[in-house]
Amino acid sequence: MTNEHNQLSEPATTDHDKAATPCTLRSLLKMVRGGEKFACLTCYDATTARWLQQAGIHMLLVGDTAGEVILGFPSTIHTPLEFLITLTAGVKRGAPATLVMADMPFMSYQADDAQAIRNAGRFLTEGLADLVKLEVDRSFAPLVAKMSRAGIPVVAHIGSRPQHAKMHGGYYAAGKSAASAIDLLDDARALVEAGATMLLVEAAPAEVAEQIVRESRVPVIGCGAGSACHGQVVVLQDLLGMSSWQPAFALPTVQIGRHIQEAARGWIDRVASGNLGEHPYVMNNSERGAFQGALAARAAGTPGSTSTAGTPGSPRS
Ligand code: KIV
Repeated sequence: MTNEHNQLSEPATTDHDKAATPCTLRSLLKMVRGGEKFACLTCYDATTARWLQQAGIHMLLVGDTAGEVILGFPSTIHTPLEFLITLTAGVKRGAPATLVMADMPFMSYQADDAQAIRNAGRFLTEGLADLVKLEVDRSFAPLVAKMSRAGIPVVAHIGSRPQHAKMHGGYYAAGKSAASAIDLLDDARALVEAGATMLLVEAAPAEVAEQIVRESRVPVIGCGAGSACHGQVVVLQDLLGMSSWQPAFALPTVQIGRHIQEAARGWIDRVASGNLGEHPYVMNNSERGAFQGALAARAAGTPGSTSTAGTPGSPRS
């Protein structure tokens, strides 16, 4: 089965000026055809999405890594579906001109095709996503075909699949033997044939990803798969120097974690010394006079003053 929307050779109809015009699937395909690389980062909230869009990022991934990064779970399989749909909508509201890819979490697409399609649809409607990403091998090709038939653009995440970590005793790399490299090429081919709009290859040798790129007619995003891929994605917190474990392919370019610590220490000091900056809420002189009069009347127990009887700390309590 082929998909008329996933041909890299299709003529482009719009221009994509990174910062000024929206990044759409069409403009991204044009970049890829022109040999320009595109950059993707994970993002889980509207404020960060706004900053990333202003930086000119092409694509944002609301990854199931949110379960680890935001919720503190030990692995991605714990990430709840409803939570991820809500985060996806927040990211798209923060970056409406950026292509947003939503990750389908563990057990939202594996058990039942009809449920998988409905859940994917929710990411597009409630989550405002532009594409959904599924961790798959070629046995999922029929599901990918059904989703694309329903109008759902699918990114097929192949190679290392973190939702399969328990099968491997932990996170793992893929395609390191000749046999598993060929297996990966077969997965890529079958999923593109089924209608996948893009591929994402995670944790695989560069020469294997390079061959996937050579054979693919759709854009290939790499995550620890070498520089031949059309686009690259890493977890934002890795890039920002906020992670406790740092993948070698996602070295930090800044140390935001340290800046957060410095800011928090500064705030602790300011709270201790009462140095809170300007205070914006002021009483005018007549209200101040009335307030002081009311306090004096209350202290003297004068009839007609504001009653504080029975309240803790009141002179009459
Ligand atoms: O969920 C995620 O962040 C991902 C990337 C690591 C590719 O799938």
